[in-house]
Amino acid sequence: MASRLTAVFACQACGATSPKWLGRCPECGEWNSFVEETRGPAPRAVPSGGAAAVSIAALDAEEKPRLATGLGGLDRVLGGGLVPGSVILLGGEPGIGKSTLLLQAGRGLAGRGRDVLYASAEESSAQVRLRGGRLGIREERLLVLAETDVSRIVAEAESRAPAVVVIDSVQAVREPSLASAPGTVSQVRAAAAELVRLAKSHGVPVLLVGHVTKDGSLAGPKSLEHLVDAVVSIEGDRGSSRRLLRATKNRFGPVDEIALYEMTGDGLAELPDASATLLAERRPGLAGSAVTAAREGSRSVLVEIQALVGAAAAGSPRRVGIGVDGGRLALLLAVLEGAGLPLSSREIFVSCTGGIEVTEPAGDLAIVAALVSSARARPLPDGAVFFGEIGLLGEVRRVPAASGRLKEAAALGFGAVYMPAGNAGEAAAFPDLRAIPVHRVADLLGALKV
Ligand code: TYD
Ligand code: MG
Repeated sequence: MASRLTAVFACQACGATSPKWLGRCPECGEWNSFVEETRGPAPRAVPSGGAAAVSIAALDAEEKPRLATGLGGLDRVLGGGLVPGSVILLGGEPGIGKSTLLLQAGRGLAGRGRDVLYASAEESSAQVRLRGGRLGIREERLLVLAETDVSRIVAEAESRAPAVVVIDSVQAVREPSLASAPGTVSQVRAAAAELVRLAKSHGVPVLLVGHVTKDGSLAGPKSLEHLVDAVVSIEGDRGSSRRLLRATKNRFGPVDEIALYEMTGDGLAELPDASATLLAERRPGLAGSAVTAAREGSRSVLVEIQALVGAAAAGSPRRVGIGVDGGRLALLLAVLEGAGLPLSSREIFVSCTGGIEVTEPAGDLAIVAALVSSARARPLPDGAVFFGEIGLLGEVRRVPAASGRLKEAAALGFGAVYMPAGNAGEAAAFPDLRAIPVHRVADLLGALKV
């Protein structure tokens, strides 16, 4: 069959295609996102002599050992290092530190006797060496390849047989058989598919760098997320050197595990004590501030929740939640109303500081405490931590992992914990903590006396 090139228009936000240009994507609603791309014949024919189906009982269940990168936080976020044959997408805004992180991971792997192929499609070898020099990286086993052609990268990986392959970035590589420009959906998808094949057929972990646009979506290749095994994002505020690493998808480990790093003069350094870092800027004694013990993956971290109850506003007052769930905030305001604290006419802002999101219901009690404190313009008791889920009827419900939360509170020197009565038994193991069991929201309003 003669190969025929067909023009299609693809949405650069979600990957939907159409035979003609559309002003608005019918799939994701994005405006002006359609770009003409040329689709050739499928890049690969189905190979003959592929794998045959095998009974599940006969499958080798043995798990291959993971490769530690030596960056404790990254390894933890991945669930214990790199799984052989897995593909991991590292997403983040330009300049946030993706190349730095992966170069440091490359050093850790090379220092453990593994060959690493670092394919740089954005920067020349000289630029990579410059950054490496700044980080003091001179490992022999860290191989740098400045190349944009994905088939040449794959060929180099096949001949060198490294233990790990890094692609920096997936938007800068191209599959030369496609006519579209690098970074378009079809290019990114084709390149990623080829790299996924490399990972699966050789059992080599492949790390893909992906740039994220300012609205938080992976630029262009949102469609990449389902192709890869894990998505790790690196986040941070402009003007702050703190970086937060988290897995948003992980086929081989937990999600929501976090690691905090600081960008220093010589690369990213992990901040081992997440709670202390997150609370460092907190000023006790201010109304509207409450500390909660949140669960992030397998760990507990103490984070500050701030609430600002503004003046009464005409019409429908604003309800803004940053790092907290808007639906839960509405529910908690309704419960507070029922418990005798009417806030429906007031403007409400609630935020979780430090770039952390408290999405689990265990943060409810702290949100309510912060709201009460702000509404009454009185600070909460010094050294108090709040956690507990609040039900529609104002009851305070048990939460999972109460001991871990109590342990973190005790370790950071907090003295009092307002917690669900149903979990109070677990506080007996912490003699330095005074547990204040709370049955209902109305009890909290009484007990706080703020
Ligand atoms: P980089 O890893 O190039 O970001 P990305 O690959 O995500 O685009 O990091 C770029 C920023 O980090 C740049 O502003 C310089 C800064 N930086 C440091 O502060 N210390 C360092 O040791 C390095 C290598 C970079
Ligand atoms: Mg980079």
